[in-house]
Amino acid sequence: MSTLVILAHPNLETSRVNKAWKEALEQHHEVTVHDLYATYPDFKIDVTREQQLLVSHDRIVFQFPFYWYSSPALLKEWQDVVLSYGWAYGQSGTQLHGKEFVLAVSTGGPADAYRPDGYNRFMMEELLSPFRAMANLTGMTYLPPYIESGVRTLTAEQLELSARHLVEHVTEVHLIRK
Ligand SMILES: Cc1cc2nc3c(=O)[nH]c(=O)nc-3n(C[C@H](O)[C@H](O)[C@H](O)COP(=O)(O)O)c2cc1C
Repeated sequence: MSTLVILAHPNLETSRVNKAWKEALEQHHEVTVHDLYATYPDFKIDVTREQQLLVSHDRIVFQFPFYWYSSPALLKEWQDVVLSYGWAYGQSGTQLHGKEFVLAVSTGGPADAYRPDGYNRFMMEELLSPFRAMANLTGMTYLPPYIESGVRTLTAEQLELSARHLVEHVTEVHLIRK
């Protein structure tokens, strides 16, 4: 099972969580970490290269810090240009069919903020539904996301544990196949 992690963090130098996740994921022999902001600082995405990367992996992971209830902008641009009609969806757009899709998201807000009675009002499940819809339209199986909430207060030990759990989550073959 080969896994492609598409990482979108605009400022990895100041990151704690996504940097720790990236470093842990890079240790795994079946995981390719693809850092979008490092590869395309000018937002000019090489669509052919991205599509080849997708085709050559079985499981696709989007890893990012939650920004305004969604992903950082480059990942949205990536979706807009890479997941094209006739390639990822629509007539003969079957290139991603049968692949698995996993989200790995860190949030500044604590878990209890993401409830109808919390200050963010909506569940993470609801806020992440555009990604689920994307997986559905492109024929990928949406697997349970890995969400680390309230990350500002994570201790060094919790951070290390989080990275270990993330690697287990995204590489676990039986994860979750239903
Ligand atoms: C522009 C911006 C928007 C953000 N929006 C949200 C948000 O909508 N919800 C949330 O819980 N945290 C939000 N945050 C906090 C980030 O999710 C948090 O800093 C990040 O997950 C920490 O990961 P890192 O250590 O890898 O940078 C935002 C941060 C920035 C800079």
